[in-house]
Amino acid sequence: MASFNIVVLPGDGIGPEVAAAGVQALKTIGEVFGHSFNFEEKRIGGIAIDTDNNPYPEDTDRACLAADAVLLGAVGGPKWDLGKMRPEQGLLAVRKSLGLFANLRPMDVKASQVHRSPLRAEVVQGADLLIVRELTGGLYFGKQTRTETTATDECVYTVAEVERVARVAFDAARKRRNKVTSVDKANVIETSRLWRETVIRLHKEEYSDVELEHALVDSMAMHLVTRPTTFDVIVTENMFGDILSDLASVLPGSIGLLGSASLGATGKGLYEPIHGSAPDIAGKDLANPVGTLKSVAMMLRFSLNLTQEADALDAAIDAVVESGFVTRDIGGTASGSAVSKAISDKIRETALTAA
Ligand code: NAD
Ligand code: IPM
Ligand code: MN
Repeated sequence: MASFNIVVLPGDGIGPEVAAAGVQALKTIGEVFGHSFNFEEKRIGGIAIDTDNNPYPEDTDRACLAADAVLLGAVGGPKWDLGKMRPEQGLLAVRKSLGLFANLRPMDVKASQVHRSPLRAEVVQGADLLIVRELTGGLYFGKQTRTETTATDECVYTVAEVERVARVAFDAARKRRNKVTSVDKANVIETSRLWRETVIRLHKEEYSDVELEHALVDSMAMHLVTRPTTFDVIVTENMFGDILSDLASVLPGSIGLLGSASLGATGKGLYEPIHGSAPDIAGKDLANPVGTLKSVAMMLRFSLNLTQEADALDAAIDAVVESGFVTRDIGGTASGSAVSKAISDKIRETALTAA
């Protein structure tokens, strides 16, 4: 029996709804497999601006630094859109503080699920890719300036920053279908030229067994929806990865289906769905919990080293989604909490059958 300390950052909008689903799944896994998860809930985002006048209070940072893993719902909302202090700064701060430079965003479209895609079955069926998004550099963390008439955002990348995230992508490819597509805008942007040169050199020196191709981000957006099955691992800088992963979420049918793991040099990670706080559906129990539950499965796998438990959660998610008991965003009528409960029930049921 193992014991783990999990910090939960529910945040804003649908954040608390999906985070609750994540906690429910972990409690069920704990019961079924005999582990104890200690949950500590902390504030981040808009709610933390309201209470602490700080989107990432020190107390939250201390808890995250001490935890075995962190689960995040979502941050942001119209209430804070015009303020000087923004909820999103809290999310950037936790990523930076924990040194989480690689954001893994997997996406697949199983044969049984192609009907949920807005794209034709023959285009999406079998698509299975992993976006590795650089998460602590680039435009998100460069110097910003503003006068009444002019604004600037500095985009900085160093060789070391590109190398470490490219390594994550190459290592992941070796465990998948051995192909990496590096995405940049090297025909225009200097940081992209450094990005491409660094990836080419690292590939030559250490990863020549992995197939490597380069794509410009604009045509990549097109290829992702016209021939998604031709990609395996996609590695790209912070901003391009943000945009391409929302685009990729259209393939299986909803942004509510995609989870992510944000990882650094240690085993600690932040686990977050790729979607936002969805103010349009917040408080209505309509949010799809699947993206968050997939993130929890990654937490079990990558930070807690509980492979069997991660497999059990992934299998329960797939079984419930395949059964058609799903939320409105993918054509169902079930509430988010009912889907979350069904997935927990499925974990228990499968464990009982196996026993
Ligand atoms: P969003 O991802 O919140 O919502 C986009 C659309 O997808 C909406 O129609 C929403 O209802 C739907 N959607 C999102 N998640 C869903 C789910 N789990 N189930 C069903 N439908 C879902 O993006 P947005 O509207 O551009 O942003 C809203 C706020 O969220 C902004 O303040 C933004 O900054 C913030 N945001 C936060 C994160 C994060 O915390 N990781 C990520 C993206 C956006
Ligand atoms: C995401 C979000 C965040 C990002 C925002 C809310 C800071 O869009 O996690 O994809 O751009 O990284
Ligand atoms: Mn995003």
